Amino acid sequence: MLNIALPKGRLGEKVYKLLASAGYEFPGILDNSRKLVFENENLKMRCFWVKPFDVPVYVERGTADIGVAGKDILLERNPDVYELLDLKAGFCRMAVAAKNDFYDDPEKILRVATEFPNIAKNYYAGLGREIDIIALRGSLELAPVLGLSDVIVDIVETGTTLRENNLSVINFIADLSARLIANKSAYKFKENEISNFVKVLAV
Ligand code: PRP
Repeated sequence: MLNIALPKGRLGEKVYKLLASAGYEFPGILDNSRKLVFENENLKMRCFWVKPFDVPVYVERGTADIGVAGKDILLERNPDVYELLDLKAGFCRMAVAAKNDFYDDPEKILRVATEFPNIAKNYYAGLGREIDIIALRGSLELAPVLGLSDVIVDIVETGTTLRENNLSVINFIADLSARLIANKSAYKFKENEISNFVKVLAV
């Protein structure tokens, strides 16, 4: 049985549709139900919906043999897995943004609001800059607007959210997209099944 962790949401559905068009079907998986695990006995495969941030945990611990995770989540969690493929979907960037009129005083500790504390810490450690992390969950743009933080480290896709809140990118951190990841020992012991799967998604 090959176990696949898909991120619940638009990206996971997109990846599932690719699989289904190649014959990897899990009836009912796109129905609007609360069911989380779907099996296809003929294919000897099992698919489950996982919160996107948790996909690397399932794969690293081997509950899932393979999974789909955003590069942002991989950079943040740094799991011990193989990154097999860039799925060329969900393109966006990790960036530092601030109010349009922000002046950065290098003598001051920078207050950084983010959902990605490790990415922020690593980035600023590389610059030798002392920061104060303010961990938030979503709607980060509010933090600099209301004065809770100086900057945010966040995902930027179209840039609309920043623009509409009078913020702009001041530093680029990384390009992001969805990646196919594999558990290290599953990659050894289920090599054929996994490489067939990779072929389907690599087109
Ligand atoms: C993400 C991100 C930005 C926004 C960027 O938030 O945190 O807020 O998308 O997209 P844009 O550049 O196209 O405007 P998401 O919509 O996932 O919700 P969240 O704020 O609750 O994290």
